[in-house]
Amino acid sequence: MTNTPTKNAALISWVNEIAALCKPESVHFCDGSEEENAKLIAGMVDSGTLIPLNPEKRPNSFLSRSDPRDVARVESRTFICSLNPNDAGPTNNWMAPLEMKAKLDALFDGCMRGRTMYVVPFSMGPLGSDIAHVGVQITDSPYVVVSMRIMTRMGQGALDVIGEHGKFVKCLHSVGVPLEPGATDVIWPCNPENTYVTHFPEERAIISFGSGYGGNALLGKKCFALRIASAMGRDEGWLAEHMLIMGVETPGGKKTYVCAAFPSACGKTNFAMLVPPESMSDHKITTIGDDIAWLKPGDDGKVYAINPEAGFFGVAPGTNAATNPNAMAAISKNTIFTNVALTDDGDVWWEGLTKTPPAHLIDWRGDDWTPEAGRPAAHPNARFTAPLAQCPSVDPHWDDPKGVPVSAFIFGGRMSKDMPLVFQAFNWNHGVYLAATMGSEATAASVGQAAMRRDPMAMLPFCGYNMADYFAHWLDFGRRLPNPPRIFRVNWFRRDADGKFIWPGFGENMRVLAWVLARVDGRGYGVESPLGWMPRHEDLPWEGTDFAEDVFYDLMSVSRDAAAAEVRQHEELFDKFLDRLPKEFVFERELLKSRLWRSPQTWELAHDPT
Ligand code: GTP
Ligand code: SPV
Ligand code: MN
Repeated sequence: MTNTPTKNAALISWVNEIAALCKPESVHFCDGSEEENAKLIAGMVDSGTLIPLNPEKRPNSFLSRSDPRDVARVESRTFICSLNPNDAGPTNNWMAPLEMKAKLDALFDGCMRGRTMYVVPFSMGPLGSDIAHVGVQITDSPYVVVSMRIMTRMGQGALDVIGEHGKFVKCLHSVGVPLEPGATDVIWPCNPENTYVTHFPEERAIISFGSGYGGNALLGKKCFALRIASAMGRDEGWLAEHMLIMGVETPGGKKTYVCAAFPSACGKTNFAMLVPPESMSDHKITTIGDDIAWLKPGDDGKVYAINPEAGFFGVAPGTNAATNPNAMAAISKNTIFTNVALTDDGDVWWEGLTKTPPAHLIDWRGDDWTPEAGRPAAHPNARFTAPLAQCPSVDPHWDDPKGVPVSAFIFGGRMSKDMPLVFQAFNWNHGVYLAATMGSEATAASVGQAAMRRDPMAMLPFCGYNMADYFAHWLDFGRRLPNPPRIFRVNWFRRDADGKFIWPGFGENMRVLAWVLARVDGRGYGVESPLGWMPRHEDLPWEGTDFAEDVFYDLMSVSRDAAAAEVRQHEELFDKFLDRLPKEFVFERELLKSRLWRSPQTWELAHDPT
């Protein structure tokens, strides 16, 4: 190879080894420059992979339409290939590393024929941060390269951090469609029959084949920043979490940082850039991240968080000027849209963007669409890829190598019934239990998901090791902190008998967040319920809304039968882990049972706790 911009022997020999296996037409080392990006984009516009949007409406933005078989993460094809199957645990697919490598070697042999092999150095986290880590992705997808440039600190800067002797996480990716001489390419090459998203935690390596979509292909994201990083965190005493990071400035100027873990497509992007209701405009939210947090204990005993990413890969449907004005501004330019609909004037559209859909669209598959079509115009998991710095609410510390100190963790699933709007854990261990037993209903972010499942810490698809060990690691993490962050559960998604959401959500979630902050400060009132500390109606700010008090109490109440059924599901989850489950969880469960059994048949939050 000529013009190799690195002297790192391990990197050079890995690139040579992969080139010999995959047999690409050429190899290109990415520097991350404007010119390089412009060239890649021009090439994809020529080939039809990217459709330029109307530059007056959406400057420097593009639409891509994936193969309809390649629209979301594929958990059934995602593997943790640890040496010992018990280190992957009962919630992950496992295959022995050698067996998986043999399978992958056969698939990768010649898989890049006729294509360029890109070598993409990237940093997860601010360049040079003690909390950040670097990786190199080899890929044959230019769409992946331009997406990685938005989502990570990609290019020469990252290569400089790796330097001559530095280590990096090896990320190998191919769409799995060699181009025979003379053959024309398809606009979205992929190989769904042979898709594998595989992780080798002991080697800190990732190999992904057959998919060009999001979490399957942008390997810095779920594969590295969650699955591999969680295993690194276990070994090194830190946490890699499926969490947003936000700053909250309260009247008087005090700033508090909060992390929140919600499962995929359950509202992290919205919450991370929330705009408070008019009556609370003296509160200000700033955004550090919307999907992933890396958390390390600092010398001062606080927990410091960075966002390993530099962009948003956010759910488009449901996003509009009322639900998320900051996201709308963030995607006003320099954005790649995937699987949204195209308007007649060259802009984008998705369900929920406007109340009345346009009279005519080209849908996400490229077909004509009218409101009578009886099918969505955008795929439910359609996404935007946009630079974080474009978000008006971006926090001044978003790129700070030190990270920001975190005071609270909020966990929230999508539960249509039997889960209160908000409550607080009694203590760290109880909070870890609440997070670990979180349930959530299915969304479009992953194919073939059960209607309702347990999604501990919103990490079920993303934990790179045995989840029982992960629970123990969480317990241990808090134990070592002098004053660990407070832990809360929330649920924005309770529905009424007609299936409508009871809680207005979005900006109104600020009212719940205000109670969380008050509790963190030791100011907020809490009633001790069997589930945890709960606010009374008067403990939340209600100015500017006519949301009824009795509806609030409906949202907060859970019948004893429902709570008991929930506990039985915790037992079912725990049974999977056999004796690896931390003992603390058995005790927490028994304590919960005894609190429930001793309460009235249907307990209600006391208006007057005395
Ligand atoms: P991933 O990127 O998949 O990890 O998901 P995310 O958690 O960032 O999801 P996102 O914020 O993009 O939310 C996805 C869906 O949740 C959208 O359809 C939103 O409209 C909806 N949503 C977000 N916040 C709320 C809320 O407060 N209430 C209700 N009812 N829906 C919400
Ligand atoms: C998720 O599914 O949680 C996402 C989208 O954030 S993807 O990157 O495709 O995993
Ligand atoms: Mn996510």
